[in-house]
Amino acid sequence: MADSEFIHSGDDKKGQVQEMFDGIARRYDFLNHFLSLGIDLYWRKQSVKALVLEDGQILLDVACGTGDQGFSALKSAEIQVVGLDFSFNMLELAKKKIDDRELADQFEVVQGDAENLPFTDNTFDALSISYGIRNVGTISAALNEFYRVLKPGGRVSILEFTEPEGWFFGRLYRFYFDHILPKLAGMMSSKSAYSYLPESVRHFPDRADFKALLSSEGFRQVEHRDLTFGVTAIYSGVK
Ligand SMILES: C[S@@+](CC[C@H](N)C(=O)[O-])C[C@H]1O[C@@H](n2cnc3c(N)ncnc32)[C@H](O)[C@@H]1O
Repeated sequence: MADSEFIHSGDDKKGQVQEMFDGIARRYDFLNHFLSLGIDLYWRKQSVKALVLEDGQILLDVACGTGDQGFSALKSAEIQVVGLDFSFNMLELAKKKIDDRELADQFEVVQGDAENLPFTDNTFDALSISYGIRNVGTISAALNEFYRVLKPGGRVSILEFTEPEGWFFGRLYRFYFDHILPKLAGMMSSKSAYSYLPESVRHFPDRADFKALLSSEGFRQVEHRDLTFGVTAIYSGVK
C-alpha cells in the first residue's frame, strides 16, 4: 500500500512487531493506561466476561504482553492462566508483575508464536487475545491455531481496536489516533510504534469481515460487541 510506513502482513511483519514490542516494553503499561485514559481496564473486564469463565478452568491468553488481560481474568474466577507472547521483554515484565502479586501458582507465561502454538489439540477451556490479533503476521493462521488448542465448547474472546462508524466520533477518533497519540507517545516512548498503531487498525478487517474469518475457521455463535462508541470491539465465538 502506498501510504504504508510499515509491513502489515506475513512473516516480515512478525520481526517488525517483535522488535517494536521489545523496544517499548518498559513504557508499555504506563502508555497503555495513559493514552486510553484508563478505559482499557473496563475493556479488558468486558472481554473476560465474554469468556464466561468457571472455577477450575484453564485459559490461554495469547499475545499476553505484560499480563494485564490474565490479571483481569484471574479476578473473575478461580482459574489457571497461561500467557503466551513472542516478545522476551514484554514477558519479563509480565513475570515480574506475577511475582509481585504472588500469583505464580495460577499464572505462567511462555514465549511462543500465536501462529504456531506450542500446545496439543483441545487443551484450553477458553482463549483470549487483547490487542494482539491485529499484530500477527497471518490472521487466519492464528485463528486456526486458537481453534485447534481450544476444547470443544471452549470460548474465544478477542479484544481489538476498531474504527468508530459514526461521522462525528469517527473524525474525533482519527484526529486523536493519527495526530495526538503518536506525538504524545513520541515524547514518552517510540513515535514509530505509535504511528504503527493507527495504520495497523486501518489495515485490520472490518467487523463483518473479521467475523466471517472466525466463522470460516470453524467458530460458532460468532458475535461482536462495540465498546466506547466503537473504538474497540469484542469478538467472541465457540468451538
Ligand atoms: C498491543 S500488545 C498487547 C499486550 C496485551 N495483550 C495487552 O492487552 O496489553 C501486542 C502484543 O502482541 C504480541 N504479539 C504480536 N504478534 C505475536 C505473535 N505472532 N505471537 C506472539 N505474540 C505476538 C506482542 O509481542 C505484544 O506483546
